[in-house]
Amino acid sequence: MAGSTLEIKDLHVEIEGKQILKGVNLTINGGEFHAVMGPNGTGKSTLASAVMGHPKYEITGGSIHLDGKDVLEMEVDERAQAGLFLAMQYPSEISGVTNSDFLRSSINARREEGDEINLMKFIKEMDGNMDELEMDKNMAQRYLNEGFSGGEKKRNEILQLMMLKPAIAILDEIDSGLDIDALKVVSKGINKMRDEAFGCLIITHYQRLLDYITPDKVHVMMQGRVVKSGGPELAKRLEEEGYDWIKQELGIEDETVGQEA
Ligand SMILES: Nc1ncnc2c1ncn2[C@@H]1O[C@H](COP(=O)(O)OP(=O)(O)OP(=O)(O)O)[C@@H](O)[C@H]1O
Ligand SMILES: [Mg+2]
Repeated sequence: MAGSTLEIKDLHVEIEGKQILKGVNLTINGGEFHAVMGPNGTGKSTLASAVMGHPKYEITGGSIHLDGKDVLEMEVDERAQAGLFLAMQYPSEISGVTNSDFLRSSINARREEGDEINLMKFIKEMDGNMDELEMDKNMAQRYLNEGFSGGEKKRNEILQLMMLKPAIAILDEIDSGLDIDALKVVSKGINKMRDEAFGCLIITHYQRLLDYITPDKVHVMMQGRVVKSGGPELAKRLEEEGYDWIKQELGIEDETVGQEA
């Protein structure tokens, strides 16, 4: 299956009247892994939320297309159905819904009515993926993320990724809070997704994750824009030298999105 293309053009986003994204350009094709790095408060999570359609984020300019279809015209559930997936920096806890039921409903929501996933097939696949992610089997029957440790939540996001098999995934700081072994396990899960039909945008602060998941492209966000792009060597240089050289190169003093209303 040929991959999808997510095309973000000159995206402007406001939250409560405050301009956060100021013209983001980014294109992700199936088969590609992109890393987005950048200092705190430069708009990385805002970009992820805007692509998924978080209601708080108002799009004030630009466009997002998935295979030529206007994503901004879609509701959140339609975006998921179209093949977009977001692993959140801070996943929500949902009491009363088991992890397993949530996964099965999510999978079925992307399938035609009458073509629901076979229960045995679902369980087998979930068990296999949980083994791969070295997750305790009882996590399937626990309420979604409720009382999960930081690391367990992150593994669970990757379990969802592996089960839902989206066309394009955005992973927001999937490495934060993971111990070294968990980082390897989670990376293994993400690498297993590598396929022409799958494109991925990985938001991270650390080269460490990119030692395990080699990105095809690395982008740096500052002031609510992508200000620099390069290959994996760009992430290595950031690890060694920090962000000052980019700020100097581009004449940026304050890299954040600014405090003005
Ligand atoms: N709901 C909100 N209300 C007000 N300001 C917000 C809201 N969400 C984000 N912001 C502001 O937008 C800016 C960018 O935030 P964002 O979460 O996108 O940064 P980030 O690049 O993901 O940072 P980090 O690396 O710390 O996760 C910050 O100044 C933040 O305070
Ligand atoms: Mg963030």
